[in-house]
Amino acid sequence: MAEPKTSELMEKIVSLCKRRGFIFQSSEIYGGLNGFWDYGPLGAELKRNIKECWWRSMTQLRDDVVGLDASIIMHPKIWEASGHTSTFSDLMVDCLLTKKRFRADQVEAQSGTAYFYTGATDSTAGKESKDAFSVLIATGKHAEYARKVARQFYQQRGLENPALLGERTEEVKDSTRYNPENGSLLTEPRPFNLMLKTYVGPVESEDNKSYLRPETAQAIFVQFKNVVDVSRQRVPFGVCQIGKAFRNEINPRNFTFRSREFEQMELEFFIRPDEVIQKMTGAVALLSDPQPSTLNPQPTWGWELWHKYWVEQRIKWYESIGLGRDTLVEYWQKKDELAHYARATVDILFKFPFGTQELEGIAARGNFDLMQHQKFSGKSMEYFDEEAKAKYVPHVIEPSAGVDRLALALICTAYCEDQAPDEKGKMESRVVMKFHPRIAPIKVAVFPLLKNKPALVEKAKAVRDLLRPHMSVFYDEAGAIGRRYRRQDEAGTPFGLTIDFDTLGEKGPELLDTVTLRDRDTMKQDRVRIGDLVSMLLERIR
Ligand code: GAP
Repeated sequence: MAEPKTSELMEKIVSLCKRRGFIFQSSEIYGGLNGFWDYGPLGAELKRNIKECWWRSMTQLRDDVVGLDASIIMHPKIWEASGHTSTFSDLMVDCLLTKKRFRADQVEAQSGTAYFYTGATDSTAGKESKDAFSVLIATGKHAEYARKVARQFYQQRGLENPALLGERTEEVKDSTRYNPENGSLLTEPRPFNLMLKTYVGPVESEDNKSYLRPETAQAIFVQFKNVVDVSRQRVPFGVCQIGKAFRNEINPRNFTFRSREFEQMELEFFIRPDEVIQKMTGAVALLSDPQPSTLNPQPTWGWELWHKYWVEQRIKWYESIGLGRDTLVEYWQKKDELAHYARATVDILFKFPFGTQELEGIAARGNFDLMQHQKFSGKSMEYFDEEAKAKYVPHVIEPSAGVDRLALALICTAYCEDQAPDEKGKMESRVVMKFHPRIAPIKVAVFPLLKNKPALVEKAKAVRDLLRPHMSVFYDEAGAIGRRYRRQDEAGTPFGLTIDFDTLGEKGPELLDTVTLRDRDTMKQDRVRIGDLVSMLLERIR
């Protein structure tokens, strides 16, 4: 089957998400709210599975990471210390005609003829505007179009019948100063802080102003000392958190990819400064050393190897939930792209249908954050390392991932169109979501072959009840069995169990209490004993 074009593919994915209840537009009956999304029954399960897998990989499967669940609104000084109030902004521009706002770096460069005006007059009303304005139109397009746009601009300034003044033209190449949608001049770029503000308490005053957190990370830094005191963890160790973050993005786009409310999964992994390692072990292992292994942490590791280690761990984790290595790109930021506090940052990118874009950033942040909080709070962030017999402010490696972006990447990866036989064995096209069983919203569907045979229904319900305590099960007795399979294929359910007359022992005792187990991807069916189902399925979904 021919591959659908990328925009077509994205449209199909968005439509399936709504039709099957993965993702809905937030506040849809009121026309939606740009940049906000709701997860339906299947989407909610998918997200929960992603978060559980991540949490398990960080805390349950390691002994050097502990969890935190902090509040969304925190002391506003935190955002001064972290630099968010002063620097967490994007440059934005507004269309001078429609007031539509764009992120300056996302305006498409255009070439053509620019028409400049020095102002306009309305002689009948005796009015004048001295505001300069310009319009960019494609070379060769009629000048009247530019004049029409300019007249609209002056009409908005109170001139009912504007006569344009001082028209001149200029050929322009690759300019980002004009609105690609109507050619109108844009404002000069100016910074726009992305934090969402609110007021804490009954009085809406500057003193009570606070912010919805733009990242979960800062809570980990400010609770560093408390966690050290209670957890018996010793550096190197990490604190992880999953939670909502909010950014007033100028142009939310690409479905859920850039939203205004989203969830993050962040780890702050605290390490010894390289100087302390040097003193302890006499040498710091470096990335440039001949073939350093980054598989098992070593006491000689400096920040470079810890950073590489986490990049590799995270890529392995993505692979373990079904993102193929060929869909991921490891991008090492260049020196001039790094944030001022970062020593190195690796972005893990995913090949979305709309382009290869960031899923997660893994930054080596030095001790910037703890030092800032020490300075702004006046509380020591120093840590006494008993083994090193040294006091220091730990450095940090930060793998920071977005749950919603990952859910979208998994949905894009899972989406597949292929051919499957219908009731009569005739091939028809089917949509199948090939989720890895670990993150699939529903793990297994249970079907009695016929709903009007009480013995089949009773047995199927017994199988459902047997599996329910261990995994999410969907019971479906409505419609032809082929249609029921198709519904589960679209939901991404990896396994289907059919209870038929053989299960009841009608063909002989050897098939009594066996069911057919259908594999979603291969559509192969095996006969399996009901008594073996729990262990067999658990093995495949863990
Ligand atoms: N503490 C570091 C930090 O927040 P970031 O690169 O700004 O770093 C980390 O964000 C991750 O959060 C991104 O890689 C992305 O997965 C997710 N993310 C950031 N902004 C987002 C948005 N507007 N919508 C959805 N996810 C977003």
